[in-house]
Amino acid sequence: MSKMATTQTEKLNVPSQVFDEMAKKYENGLGGAQNDIVRELLSHCKEAYPIVSASIIHDNACGPAVVTGEILNQGIVPSPQIFATDYAQGMIDITNSYKERKGWNTVTVQQMDGQALSFEDEKFTHSISSLGVFMFPDERKGLSEMYRTLKPGGWVGVTSWKDVRWPTAATSAYERLFPEAKEPMILPLAKNWMETDSCEQTLRNAGFRDVRAEVFPCINRQPSKEVGASIVAGFLRNVSPTAKAWDDKTWERYADCFCKLIEEMYSPLEDGSGVELKLYAIVTSGRK
Ligand SMILES: C[S@@+](CC[C@H](N)C(=O)[O-])C[C@H]1O[C@@H](n2cnc3c(N)ncnc32)[C@H](O)[C@@H]1O
Repeated sequence: MSKMATTQTEKLNVPSQVFDEMAKKYENGLGGAQNDIVRELLSHCKEAYPIVSASIIHDNACGPAVVTGEILNQGIVPSPQIFATDYAQGMIDITNSYKERKGWNTVTVQQMDGQALSFEDEKFTHSISSLGVFMFPDERKGLSEMYRTLKPGGWVGVTSWKDVRWPTAATSAYERLFPEAKEPMILPLAKNWMETDSCEQTLRNAGFRDVRAEVFPCINRQPSKEVGASIVAGFLRNVSPTAKAWDDKTWERYADCFCKLIEEMYSPLEDGSGVELKLYAIVTSGRK
């Protein structure tokens, strides 16, 4: 059976409850890769339109405040105003706990769907969505909301996955376990966001100018390959309609095979502190 016949992609349409449940695991799941990506994105921002104290920034689909945390780590004094929003209450709770613990007085945290922002037009100098807007069911609405709420001349920065690695393992495991399958395994992949050309075009179509997109390799570091595999297996069970429909026994058989394939992808860290897996993100930015 060919690869084409066993994998079907569909637009991501992940309900907020999935991210509620994942919120605590999410930070560990990507093993710091999400922070590497944001630092790269912010370095593009620094070249084009640096963040300063007077900036007003939107961290859209903030998750556990990754963009917010990295901006505040830059030590700009006084800190800029940041609005961190996400539709999953679990992510909002984590962001609020950071705000409280770290004394983030210039950060406003709000639960909000990125496809229907409640902010006024032209509020922000910088509108950022790292590994966020590309996942929205209606990414065009998400981007048009980012455009609407950005000041003229403002900077937009988004990131997405070129290759997050687990889809290859998911397909191989499916082919091995169900060689006679009539139905393809449905994997939610954001097809418009996996090549630099299409990322640039997507932002241009949303009205942005001076758009640039680059592939950025980053590292998922885990204490062990078993831990790395089990986190991504939990994610897959929740986001693949095929996997969701299986009974527990079928899932366990599949997860066993899938986890072994993921584990093979990891290599030991040189300092012996764990394992690493190289992932490929795309960092895209532009101006209004
Ligand atoms: C992969 S995480 C990225 C989190 C964070 N920005 C980062 O850099 O790691 C995706 C986030 O998008 C949020 N999200 C997905 N769809 C959304 C929507 N329609 N509106 C707001 N947030 C959404 C999820 O709750 C989750 O926190």
